[in-house]
Amino acid sequence: MKITEAALAAIAANPAQFPQDGLPEIALVGRSNVGKSSFINRMLGRKRLAHTSSRPGKTQTLNFYRINRHFYFVDLPGYGYAQVSKRQQAAWGKLIEGYLQKRPPLCLVIQLVDIRHKPTQQDRQMWEYLQWTAIPRLLVATKADKVARGQWQKHLGIIRKELDLEASHPVYPFSAQDGTGKDAVWQIIGEHLSAERVAADNS
Ligand code: GTP
Ligand code: MG
Repeated sequence: MKITEAALAAIAANPAQFPQDGLPEIALVGRSNVGKSSFINRMLGRKRLAHTSSRPGKTQTLNFYRINRHFYFVDLPGYGYAQVSKRQQAAWGKLIEGYLQKRPPLCLVIQLVDIRHKPTQQDRQMWEYLQWTAIPRLLVATKADKVARGQWQKHLGIIRKELDLEASHPVYPFSAQDGTGKDAVWQIIGEHLSAERVAADNS
């Protein structure tokens, strides 16, 4: 996909602040610091559009990036960050759950896990939650540059086992650093966006 325009269009701390234009949305979920904001920047070829940080808990709102006036990437707050107060975590949890549960434009959720680590209990809960919502989901294993290519399959196997993936369900290795996986993930995104368009035309 050729990116002609990418801009932060909305920063939402509650549903009233979500965009109203009905463009399809692709959301990023995953542990804090897993690389959601870096994923968006690499996919768009923009170095600093989404704010990244080595300090976990950087993204604290739902950030809607409008691409080519055609769809949104939605950067969600990461889970599993202990420094955030219980009260704040509960508030985010409610906001994220509400968004994932009832958001008609949402056509794909991309869950990021770190290729180096066994998925956590919260990763598993999120993956199962997405299955329950029935929104199409895609699993991406990021920071692939930190593991030698010859070790990828071993690491992906651990992820698959922990999340109980069916054999047919793909996991894409990705690196925001060197661009690994970018084309493959764009391909999947393109398919979901065109399916969304067909559905809209038929309704
Ligand atoms: P929160 O907003 O806290 O939920 O974090 P996030 O998931 O948006 O993570 P972010 O993109 O801010 O990245 C966290 C850190 O990991 C930063 O220091 C990034 O530079 C680094 N990082 C992210 N993706 C990659 C990657 O693919 N490879 C490497 N080597 N580092 C990465
Ligand atoms: Mg972030």
